[in-house]
Amino acid sequence: MKHTGELLQSPKGMRDLLPYEERYYAEIIRVAREIAEWYGFQAIATPHLEHTGLFEASLGESTDIIEKQMYSFRTKGGDALTLRPEGTAPVMRAYLEHGMHTYPQPVKLFYSGAFFRHENPQAGRTREFYQVGLEMIGDPEPINDAMVIRLFSLIVRELGVPLTIALNSIGDRECRPAYRKDLVAYYRRHINRLCADCKRRLKINPLRLLDCKEEACQAIRGKAPKIIDRLCEPCQRHFNEVREFLDAVHVPYEIDPYLVRGLDYYTRTVFELFSALPEKQSAHLAIGSGGRYDDLAKTMGSSRAVPAVGGALGVDRIAELLRAQGKEDRDRIIKKEAPAVFVVQLGQTAKKKLLHWIEDLRHADIPIAHVFSRDSLKAQLKLADRMGTPWAVIVGQKEALDETAIIRDMRSGEQEVVPLNKLVFALKGKIKKK
Ligand code: HAM
Repeated sequence: MKHTGELLQSPKGMRDLLPYEERYYAEIIRVAREIAEWYGFQAIATPHLEHTGLFEASLGESTDIIEKQMYSFRTKGGDALTLRPEGTAPVMRAYLEHGMHTYPQPVKLFYSGAFFRHENPQAGRTREFYQVGLEMIGDPEPINDAMVIRLFSLIVRELGVPLTIALNSIGDRECRPAYRKDLVAYYRRHINRLCADCKRRLKINPLRLLDCKEEACQAIRGKAPKIIDRLCEPCQRHFNEVREFLDAVHVPYEIDPYLVRGLDYYTRTVFELFSALPEKQSAHLAIGSGGRYDDLAKTMGSSRAVPAVGGALGVDRIAELLRAQGKEDRDRIIKKEAPAVFVVQLGQTAKKKLLHWIEDLRHADIPIAHVFSRDSLKAQLKLADRMGTPWAVIVGQKEALDETAIIRDMRSGEQEVVPLNKLVFALKGKIKKK
């Protein structure tokens, strides 16, 4: 049994989203979903738990996620399950499991939710985090790659975050092996100056050498061969077309010839999105990323090849940027979104009647606030004042019996008694005038 101090804290790297933070998450997901749906994506939800083997088969043996970041466990029934560290493998599993190859292709799917990686928590990196993802499955055409990148760019811009996009192609099973060989040969010549991690990468996952953040390794990278100079003709053509489509819709991007990704399922296009805001964290942490994964279905055991492309936005990182940008504090957010009416009740009879009547206000789409647990007029009006609601509807014992209500203008203090069956009408008129 843990001692009480620990029980009263959320687990390391996982945190509560308090109401003033959660609303940013909700807004990001709302905007993403609205844009995605307009472009024909349909929402999908997959379980938080999957068979451990699904991720082991798809993300790449020597990736950080598989090596050290999965929350895996055995159930009492003996199943080996893992809390999903990402969404692409589960969505592809769902596509294959439900025979979605019989739908019109590409199948365009949108998802949002929590993902779990046992990482070292630090700014912008948590063990539970939220993503919104887009996947276009079942079509190899480069316009899909451009479409995914464009939609992410539209979503992020619509949220008010200027961004930059890094783009690269990492080839396919035709051209990558020869490149990998050259890369290994190059790095072997500099092996003594590589960090310990890179020495290991050289053996097990050489492409990831390009991703090292150590200064010495970055210096060596400066002269490393670039995959975009070694693409086979079909990959080159594909990449050129992705670029042409992006140019045609004026989505600016920069080619980063050393961009590789932390997941092994990518082929051809890879991309990362960065905020162009001057915040510190924006400099190095991607707010979104993705790419094409034409071989994933086969590595998962599918007999048919299923070309696909997609990506995901890091909702936590974007929420953090929005909060920093807006400089909103808790009170301001509460005030800004104050409902039109505070309903004030005095005594049991009024409480019961009001509980019943406020449904009329909901049906009339009039937002209200209330604290039914308080009985004092003063306390309730004080709260209405703090929240900044322009109107209060007061129902005391007398009004409850007469079936009337008092409408109070919170600014001037003026009051008016209206019959209950005229309340919605009267409030609507007043709200409109304000
Ligand atoms: P990923 O790059 O691992 O890709 O994650 C996508 C985004 O999620 C990142 O760009 C980042 O913003 C956010 N993110 C990742 N890890 C964390 C963390 N520990 N804390 C906070 N935010 C984080 C994928 O997950 C792929 N499934 C994306 C994809 C979809 N590729 C194709 N389709």
